[in-house]
Amino acid sequence: MNNDLSSFAATPLLLVGCGKMGAALLRGWQGRGLPPNEVAVIQPSRAAAAEFADTAVVAHRGDLPPAFAPRTVVLAMRPQQLDEATPPLANLADFNLVSVLAGTSVSRLRETLPGAASVVRAMPNLAVEVLRGVTTLFADNDTAAVATENATLLFSALGDVVRLDDEEHLELATALAGSGPAYVFLLARALEDGAVELGMSREAARALSRGMIAGSGELLCRREEESAALVREVAVRGGVTDAALSSGLGEALPRDILEALRAGVRRARELRGD
Ligand SMILES: NC(=O)c1ccc[n+]([C@@H]2O[C@H](COP(=O)([O-])OP(=O)(O)OC[C@H]3O[C@@H](n4cnc5c(N)ncnc54)[C@H](OP(=O)(O)O)[C@@H]3O)[C@@H](O)[C@H]2O)c1
Repeated sequence: MNNDLSSFAATPLLLVGCGKMGAALLRGWQGRGLPPNEVAVIQPSRAAAAEFADTAVVAHRGDLPPAFAPRTVVLAMRPQQLDEATPPLANLADFNLVSVLAGTSVSRLRETLPGAASVVRAMPNLAVEVLRGVTTLFADNDTAAVATENATLLFSALGDVVRLDDEEHLELATALAGSGPAYVFLLARALEDGAVELGMSREAARALSRGMIAGSGELLCRREEESAALVREVAVRGGVTDAALSSGLGEALPRDILEALRAGVRRARELRGD
């Protein structure tokens, strides 16, 4: 897949909401060559204006030139902000809508913005910022292939893309990979705090936990074995890792992760209105 977005065809692109995720996407896309003058951003607090100085960042849709007609609209505000953010877009027509909103279904997006020619849901994670994201994409059968291809181009420029055929699984993908960096950061924090509690300096504990997580992630991606086999490779019977896992972590972690995924999916369904 070509990761160069300098000749991405479905421009101009309008980004609605430039908070943590919107800014991470835009940084990544511009880093991959998406021309800044082919992008406009609606962001009420204008917080993004300084960083994206060559891009039109406006507080309200009415501040964009009247002739501005985006071919791609990316929604990246919070799901709860959808009803407030979309009325100003109501007169747009014939654009590809890409939404990264958790728990916001294709049918709700179609109802909210009937001018959209196509709707694709994307669930990225914050690692798009370093071009190592993984994004789940879902488009239903009413979506033209070219719209899905354009969304695939945008997100594969920022890491891996996984296509799902069942929208129901997108809520689970959100709890797994969208939220997932938080689980890893929490693991880093717990290891760091634990080592400090046991007498190590914060600096050394931080360097060890971060380096270990980065290296383990890389190794996991490169090896073909199941992750359980990699656990066994480190945890030889009677060794240090075996003792550490037998302290309860080996049982508690899978159980707690399952509960966390369930809770995430429940919340996504609540947002969806189920
Ligand atoms: N953060 C993640 O790791 C992550 C992962 C996967 C998916 N997502 C999805 O990404 C979306 C954004 O999440 P986030 O973490 O980036 O939240 P966030 O930091 O709160 O960003 C939301 C942005 O939308 C702006 N906004 C509010 N009302 C708006 C309006 N009427 N028109 C245009 N923009 C408006 C907010 O501006 P103000 O600050 O001025 O209110 C804010 O900058 C969510 O739907 C979430 O499900 C996030």
